[in-house]
Amino acid sequence: MNLDIIQHFDERADSYDRAEWVRDPAVMAVMIDFLGLAPKQRILEIGAGTGAVLAAALAACPELGECVALDVSRRMLARIRDPRIRTCCHNAEKLPFGDGYFDAVVCRQALHYIDDLDQCLREVGRVLSPAGVLAVGQTTPFSHVDEAWWKIVVKARQPLRRHMLTLHELIARLMRNGFVVVRTSQTRATESLQAWLGRYERSAEQVAEVCRLHREAPAAYKELHCFREADGDTLIDNCWTFIQARKSAAGSR
Ligand SMILES: C[S@@+](CC[C@H](N)C(=O)[O-])C[C@H]1O[C@@H](n2cnc3c(N)ncnc32)[C@H](O)[C@@H]1O
Repeated sequence: MNLDIIQHFDERADSYDRAEWVRDPAVMAVMIDFLGLAPKQRILEIGAGTGAVLAAALAACPELGECVALDVSRRMLARIRDPRIRTCCHNAEKLPFGDGYFDAVVCRQALHYIDDLDQCLREVGRVLSPAGVLAVGQTTPFSHVDEAWWKIVVKARQPLRRHMLTLHELIARLMRNGFVVVRTSQTRATESLQAWLGRYERSAEQVAEVCRLHREAPAAYKELHCFREADGDTLIDNCWTFIQARKSAAGSR
């Protein structure tokens, strides 16, 4: 059991939605587009958190069929108040649904927390219908130029991450677990370092280390992430990577 992750998100559930990216319209637009929604479809979100993606999916397509939000954190799921969204407190490594039950599965910013990611992706393939769609959204490095420093920064900011996924690593994971990649896309979302620091309580050491890593970032990293100073704050662009995948003929059941 990933007790550290459950505790982490339980403790942050009440303030989680304050993060700018959670409802960022540019990020959400691609996520929804990649889901290819249609009326009556059954949709599952794994690592659904407070349900922002499913809320946006229902706003885009109110005639959706069953919507299920699955997460290991009960307190994150408790933030979901829309009665059209069924919550399911469960580990994404073993999905409590029948084969081929869902038309679409979405996972935004959660794959990196899942211990056995290959097992999880095989489970997603199992519960997807033969023509079903998997839409993934993750922050990643922009390219090989910022990859090494990005991994150092992310490790300092999110020590509970199990995986540091790049676009290429995500594609390789999907392919070896029975998916074909249909399309990919990357977009930028701006983040305030001060807002991130102010969102939750963090140790003085973690704050100092994250600030140092931003201050001492290589010039190419700062350029790619568009570092700019504004009113004593540092604004940074993050790279959002989206992947739309389907089950491969060999992988589908
Ligand atoms: C960063 S939040 C993302 C929430 C939501 N997808 C969104 O985009 O707003 C990551 C979520 O993944 C959940 N999570 C982490 N590991 C999980 C696992 N093994 N099974 C199910 N949920 C998990 C966490 O509890 C947390 O709510």
